[in-house]
Amino acid sequence: MTTRVLTGITTSGTPHLGNYVGAIRPAVAASHTAGVESFYFLADYHALIKVQEPSRVQRSTLEIAATWLACGLEPDKVWFYRQSDIPEIPELTWLLTCVAGKGILNRAHAYKAAVDKNRAEGEDEDAGITAGLFMYPVLMAADILMFKAAKVPVGRDQIQHIEMARDFGQRFNHLLGQDHFVLPEAVIEESVATLPGLDGRKMSKSYDNTIPLFAPRGELKKLIASIVTDSKMPGEPKEPEGSHVFQLYQAFASAEETQRMREAFAEGIGWGDAKQQLFERIDAEVAPSREKYEALIARPVEIEAILRDGAQRLRAKYAIPFMAELRHAVGLRDLSQQSAAVRDKSAEKAALPQFKQYREKDGRFYFKLLDSQGELLIQSNGFDSPKDAGQLIAVLKQVERADGMETPEITLLVSADDVLAALQRIREAEA
Ligand code: TRP
Repeated sequence: MTTRVLTGITTSGTPHLGNYVGAIRPAVAASHTAGVESFYFLADYHALIKVQEPSRVQRSTLEIAATWLACGLEPDKVWFYRQSDIPEIPELTWLLTCVAGKGILNRAHAYKAAVDKNRAEGEDEDAGITAGLFMYPVLMAADILMFKAAKVPVGRDQIQHIEMARDFGQRFNHLLGQDHFVLPEAVIEESVATLPGLDGRKMSKSYDNTIPLFAPRGELKKLIASIVTDSKMPGEPKEPEGSHVFQLYQAFASAEETQRMREAFAEGIGWGDAKQQLFERIDAEVAPSREKYEALIARPVEIEAILRDGAQRLRAKYAIPFMAELRHAVGLRDLSQQSAAVRDKSAEKAALPQFKQYREKDGRFYFKLLDSQGELLIQSNGFDSPKDAGQLIAVLKQVERADGMETPEITLLVSADDVLAALQRIREAEA
């Protein structure tokens, strides 16, 4: 059994060192693990929620795709695709929208934070908030549930979204009485460092304090030189704990290198020298991928082809057949296939066959079983008393209750013996 691991990257910015250490590097390493079927995708529909600049969405999609490929993701070994190339994802989003509790979405952090901000500013609660932001967790649930992913590596800020995906999936399964969806679990990589940015806060696009992963050497050097430090002079011992330069160094260095840097701090290495070493260490790790990245980004036609090919294979193998199953499950069905509609639970009840008891001119007692269209299913022989006929009907009704009269064996029976023989066959089949 392989485990399906899936993660998405919103295409709203340029990959930075924090993305690399926190997500890209561990994900590429994990993609080489045996027994794992990996799904990595560019969440460009999600990008539209926050970016209203088309050229930026396009540029970011290209950069992120090139980054993952340059860092060693192998598109013939993992599923690598773009969300908007899979039309079944927005289709599934709608099915999930119809089971998702609005109250649950009200509690989503990103939406709540926007509402709280409006309140604090004395604005209307929902001022400037799009339905896209509100629905964000449903789209994300569709990303995950579509491919029956069991594990979803994400940052802490995304745990709530995975829980919502579980909730929507579970509701859907429950409502339709079948386990269509696998309920996903978040995977939080505890050992992976959260990198500080240039100003010491978490490296993040929203703080505008990032170091782009593939900044050219000169720019990388300049940015590293601008990391904030305390004002200790060269020769003064420095505290590695709490130093952003040290934390960044540690994320790229081996244990021995880190130990040597720790000693250098104690011995009073100057900030200029420490930053030079940090620059060299990072550059040594990223330079080979940077070269690949630059070559890839110069050939967008190839990246486009890789993404389309991934999506096309993935749709054929999973998304199209699964969506067909789900459409059928909710009742979006081919009308020419009526039998399925008739077998539907409510229809079944209305269409239950009926027993009719009556007396013929010969003075004997009879019964017959008619289906909902009045067609004869069972015709009894004559009985001496209505009680005898009634007893046999009682037996038949038990069978009816046991299997809802879906007994193709009983079509037209003419005698009590035939009925009893049929009952016998049914009992044997059930045993
Ligand atoms: N919302 C995620 C983020 O901003 C990106 C994302 C979209 C995602 N769909 C996903 C992550 C599905 C994991 C699984 O980080």
